[in-house]
Amino acid sequence: MAHRVKKAVVPAAGLGTRFLPATKALPKEMLPVVDTPAIQYVVEEAVNAGLNDLLMITGRNKNALENHFDRNYELERTLEAKHDEARLLKVTHSTDLADIHYVRQGDPKGLGHAVLKAAHHVGDESFALLLGDDIIDPKENLLERMLDVHGSTGASVVALMEVDEELLSQYGVAVIEKTDDSDVVRVTGMVEKPAPGQAPSNLAIIGRYVLRPEIFGVLDRTEPGRGGEIQLTDALAVLAADVSIADGVVGVIFRGRRFDTGDRLEYLKAVVELATERDDLGPGLLAWLREFVASR
Ligand code: UTP
Repeated sequence: MAHRVKKAVVPAAGLGTRFLPATKALPKEMLPVVDTPAIQYVVEEAVNAGLNDLLMITGRNKNALENHFDRNYELERTLEAKHDEARLLKVTHSTDLADIHYVRQGDPKGLGHAVLKAAHHVGDESFALLLGDDIIDPKENLLERMLDVHGSTGASVVALMEVDEELLSQYGVAVIEKTDDSDVVRVTGMVEKPAPGQAPSNLAIIGRYVLRPEIFGVLDRTEPGRGGEIQLTDALAVLAADVSIADGVVGVIFRGRRFDTGDRLEYLKAVVELATERDDLGPGLLAWLREFVASR
């Protein structure tokens, strides 16, 4: 049965090895996209979709994450004394955003293992899962659409994006059947990081999910898969293959912009694109970019 979703889970305990050495002492989710850590965009997205109870799964170096969403009295007092309201708001905004809870993953044994750590906090309810390094264009309403589709179907929901053939082997890829809705498909299977030429479709699973609580039982029984990690995709494939467990899995096809900030090139694109759209930085950056590109 579909529940009204109230809780969001945000895993941020990965090692971020693609971004070394920056991630030696800093979680990749804290890397700034323009002037805001990636994770703040993700938390804002959950809050904008009405999810104020948020559980963050943290790993080593968790202090920076917790501190970012906590009070910083010294900064607040200094900015108050200067009557710098604009910057003061930037400091207090992340503190006041949501009711944030934390749990440690311990060993980073994969995304599925991280999600299992949320079982106690989530309980017997459907929940949203937002990967802490994946930014969805703040102008889009993907999560709201996924919550609607969960409400109407009762199924677990994954976000899917069309991806070029040569990049599919970096993703979990869905086996799908069409439905009457142009942006909704039934997912009947999933393959994690398929070998080149072996992908079952061009629809890749991206970092947004609305999951039924039955996923925890399935994850508990999931053996380590690719890379010795407990893969969320493997557990979702079990739900997708047997609709009698928890009404199966459906996919919402997302056609907007999404940035995987854990990937260096995507990260750079996120910074440039989002900065060019800002009133304070856009005009100056765009003018410089045009000159820079012309001179190459
Ligand atoms: P990634 O696969 O992108 O994270 O996980 P990673 O393992 O840190 O990346 P690289 O390949 O070493 O650079 C996607 C999301 O899942 C979280 C990550 O923090 C990220 O938000 N994650 C991943 C965990 O919380 N725990 C894990 O064990 C693995």
